[in-house]
Amino acid sequence: MDSLLGCALLFLDIAIKWTAQEVLPPKYLHYDLESSRQLLCDKCPPGTFLQQHCTAKRKTVCAPCPDHHYTDSWHTSDECLYCRPVCKELQRIRQECNRTHDRVCECAEGRYLELEFCLKHRSCPPGFGVAQAGTPERDTVCKRCPDGFFSNETSSKAPCRKHTNCSVFGLLLTRKGNATHDNICSENSESTQKCGIDVTLCEEAFFRFAVPTKFTPNWLSVLVDNLPGTKVNAETVERIKRRHSSQEQTFQLLKLWKHQNKDQDMVKKIIQDIDLCESSVQKHIGHANLTFEQLRSLMESLPGKKVGTEDIDKTRKACRSHEQILKLLSLWRIKNGDQDTLKGLMHALKHAKTHHFPKVVAQSLKKTIRFLHSFTMYKLYQKLFLEMIGNQVQSVKISCL
Ligand SMILES: *[C@@H]1O[C@H](CO)[C@@H](O)[C@H](O)[C@H]1NC(C)=O
Ligand SMILES: *[C@@H]1O[C@H](CO)[C@@H](O)[C@H](O)[C@H]1NC(C)=O
Ligand SMILES: *[C@@H]1O[C@H](CO)[C@@H](O)[C@H](O)[C@H]1NC(C)=O
Ligand SMILES: *[C@@H]1O[C@H](CO)[C@@H](O)[C@H](O)[C@H]1NC(C)=O
Ligand SMILES: *[C@@H]1O[C@H](CO)[C@@H](O)[C@H](O)[C@H]1NC(C)=O
Repeated sequence: MDSLLGCALLFLDIAIKWTAQEVLPPKYLHYDLESSRQLLCDKCPPGTFLQQHCTAKRKTVCAPCPDHHYTDSWHTSDECLYCRPVCKELQRIRQECNRTHDRVCECAEGRYLELEFCLKHRSCPPGFGVAQAGTPERDTVCKRCPDGFFSNETSSKAPCRKHTNCSVFGLLLTRKGNATHDNICSENSESTQKCGIDVTLCEEAFFRFAVPTKFTPNWLSVLVDNLPGTKVNAETVERIKRRHSSQEQTFQLLKLWKHQNKDQDMVKKIIQDIDLCESSVQKHIGHANLTFEQLRSLMESLPGKKVGTEDIDKTRKACRSHEQILKLLSLWRIKNGDQDTLKGLMHALKHAKTHHFPKVVAQSLKKTIRFLHSFTMYKLYQKLFLEMIGNQVQSVKISCL
């Protein structure tokens, strides 16, 4: 008990001494002529010089350093030091001089200090990227680009970049990249030969609710931020923006998101149901074989910008009979920003009826339209989806509708 108390007191004692030392100025000995005595005077603090020694009656008098002068410690000098006037060549000022600190210099942008010299930051050659950018004190650290990454430039700033994933953009990988070269993608020439409907009728029906009816700035970013699961990266979003008109952007984004998250249960179900819807549409539209002339007059009957005869010709060659109308309607939709394929289908039906197309044609169009109107599955999902992506999107959506 006793020793514990002693210990505590000792501790207190040390603590007091220590704080007292911090506050009390250090001293120096000075022989005072007036009193003919050796006195213990206070030293002057940083930022000041000694103006008058202490006497028996008063303390040391310290005065602030003049401009461009400094002192950086407790001292007894009657003048301050002159700040170094300029930084050396290839250097810049890091800290201006003040009363307590000399001017501090460092190597200029893009250089670092090695011995006495400011040397240029190393640039990483192709095949190497910057792992740590250089600082005024340290050179650049380069590293070899790992598998799947490349750097095709000599740079002291650029890190290794990921190889472009061609399939994400619906393109073909024509040459695999390495450490110095990006992957090279090409237009999917096969799919331009093949029919290739980009956004299908069911995807459109399913995702249309997410297309704002009015121009909404940053809409794509709002969607990206709120969609659950793996996010579509910014570079890809930029590419979508560059390549597609505003309505199409939403479809493309959601299609990509769906693809990137296809392993999640919820998305799996969406994909299944869209596939189910697709096969029903194909069944309903049947094998109504239309001649070039019939297709042309159908497309002519649609409002807005027309699909050219060249495209009709291509479509007839590339698509199977049951895909031709859908492909042409999808081309028409893309050409006409805000159109809805279902509306196009309804125009086509009217035209088919009034122009005495074969009965099967009108019938199959009618069945398809009916099916899409009754396909309520996607409405259920829309609700779920909106809840999932949260209030922000919901409120934007409501204001759009
Ligand atoms: C003087 O400069 C030093 C750094 O060089 C800084 O830490 C200090 O706060 C400055 N003092 C005043 C009074 O500005
Ligand atoms: C990387 O690919 C390019 C072109 O694809 C080629 O010229 C170069 O030799 C390749 N480099 C290595 C190290 O394989
Ligand atoms: C480096 O690769 C990028 C992406 O593939 C390309 O846009 C750029 O032109 C290339 N730069 C050089 C110098 O080859
Ligand atoms: C490219 O993207 C697809 C689809 O998102 C993915 O399945 C594939 O693994 C990616 N490839 C590479 C090399 O990252
Ligand atoms: C449509 O054409 C395909 C082949 O071009 C043929 O197999 C099919 O029987 C045709 N259908 C009708 C209803 O004429």
